Amino acid sequence: MNQKLDLLARKKAEAKLGGGQKRIDSQHAKGKLTARERIELLLDQGSFEEIGMLVTHRSTDFGMENQQFLGDGVVTGYGTIAGRLVYVFSQDFTVFGGSLSETHAEKICKIMDLAMKNGAPVIGLNDSGGARIQEGVVSLGGYADIFYRNTLASGVIPQISAIMGPCAGGAVYSPAITDFILMVEKTSYMFVTGPNVVKTVTHEDVTSEELGGAHTHASKSGVTHFACAHELDCIQHIRKLLSFMPQNCEEEAPALAYTPSDETRPALRDLIPANPNQPYDMRDVIAGIVDEDSFLEVHKDFAENIVVGFARLAGRSIGIVGNQPAALAGVLDIHASTKGARFVRFCDSFNIPLLVLEDVPGFLPGTDQEWNAIITNGAKLLYAFCEATVPRITVITRKAYGGAYDVMNSKHIGADMNYAWPSAEIAVMGAKGAAEIIFKGEIEKAENKDAKLQEKVDEYTEMFANPYKAAARGFVDEVIDPAETRQKLIRAFKMLQTKAVKLPRKKHGNIPL
Ligand code: HXC
Repeated sequence: MNQKLDLLARKKAEAKLGGGQKRIDSQHAKGKLTARERIELLLDQGSFEEIGMLVTHRSTDFGMENQQFLGDGVVTGYGTIAGRLVYVFSQDFTVFGGSLSETHAEKICKIMDLAMKNGAPVIGLNDSGGARIQEGVVSLGGYADIFYRNTLASGVIPQISAIMGPCAGGAVYSPAITDFILMVEKTSYMFVTGPNVVKTVTHEDVTSEELGGAHTHASKSGVTHFACAHELDCIQHIRKLLSFMPQNCEEEAPALAYTPSDETRPALRDLIPANPNQPYDMRDVIAGIVDEDSFLEVHKDFAENIVVGFARLAGRSIGIVGNQPAALAGVLDIHASTKGARFVRFCDSFNIPLLVLEDVPGFLPGTDQEWNAIITNGAKLLYAFCEATVPRITVITRKAYGGAYDVMNSKHIGADMNYAWPSAEIAVMGAKGAAEIIFKGEIEKAENKDAKLQEKVDEYTEMFANPYKAAARGFVDEVIDPAETRQKLIRAFKMLQTKAVKLPRKKHGNIPL
């Protein structure tokens, strides 16, 4: 037996070395951790159980039969994060650049199947040059097997992808189907084709960083939800992100202990500027409402005119969508709509109640927006709210104008509670624009046109720049003192905890993509 145990120990030691010490050193020299080091940091200490450590590839072309590495470039298994079960795969760049072979794909599929059967999240730590070039179509098939499982798992278990190296080709499409992507600044890239192919096809000169670095995808494309300063920061973000989520779509997110105390927040009274055209930061409103330091902003640098993220209210996990008056006056444009819609759909998939903080002057006009389909993209946000069955509460802090009033979780599309601050203005459009249209003739005829316009603006403001017309109709349930917002929300979300709504039976809806 001792000899047999020795053999096993030797094989395990060999597997743990991946592509060999030289390549491990090279990985470290690039400022990157190895696949195993990442898993150690991600999971609770000592909780990792590996599956498939001794798997090898089956390729015989190009002399591949002589290049075998135990584990075949991916470490897979399960463990716990904050005591909760998760499945994990971590690609090993030291083995064929983390490229995906048939067997590498099979290992990932195996843990995805287990995750689905047992209802627990899957975390992918991606560091891969894409399809294993030596394997050809077999490798492409392996990718497709993963994409198929990613899609079936979508909305059933949370799927999180960290990009921790250069990820090209197929290596970017699986993350794209998952719920959240995190990238590491300066060491991770995502592109369908790299700078060399770009140069050949479009004659553009572009660096990897510009084409598909963390900053590019966090701010320009919105492909990544988080750009993390370094690998440890990325891993800590994954752990925090998971803390807001349930294990699967049948469960609720874990709640933290909460001791009721005085919930009034008088500072909220001073956040809205006297001049309605002056910006303020919606993050200050969020900070004033939620449990201290609990807000985790998602997509921070993309479509900054809308703020989305997770927080805790009286210990319970909530998703927040807020217009951001500090960026483009909080207008809804294409990117803001798709960002908001995706977040709403995630929260609804996983039973996370939604809080909407509304200060929106409307949809952004212009040829750029129209030609790029603001109609279709704005409809995504509308559709996402309409079909969400989780508890949904809106607080109108200031402007709720035009179609954006309807879209931003109005009562009419299924919000459960709709509060307004006394500073709310709920109307078809701003007073000046409205006065110029409906009193056009009267203003043109007037001797002093400016004075007449001002008179009509004042008249319209008096009539509509308040929450009381909407409250009289019941479109707003209550006009509240901002200081009592936190208290009201804690109670209302508690009241809605047993909410049960069934959508009409269907195969699936047809969201305007
Ligand atoms: C096999 C690969 C590989 C691949 C890298 N390697 N990519 N082996 N298949 N796809 C190997 C290298 O031969 C090398 O082996 C080691 O990994 C490290 O690679 P380097 O090039 O030395 O590293 P680096 O300079 O850091 O560049 C990393 C890289 C580059 C940017 C990922 O290797 C690269 O561009 N690779 C090819 C990317 C690509 O085109 N993939 C196919 C996409 S098509 P040694 O032995 O020297 O350590 C695709 C189709 C799926 O994925 C589509 C589905 C929708």
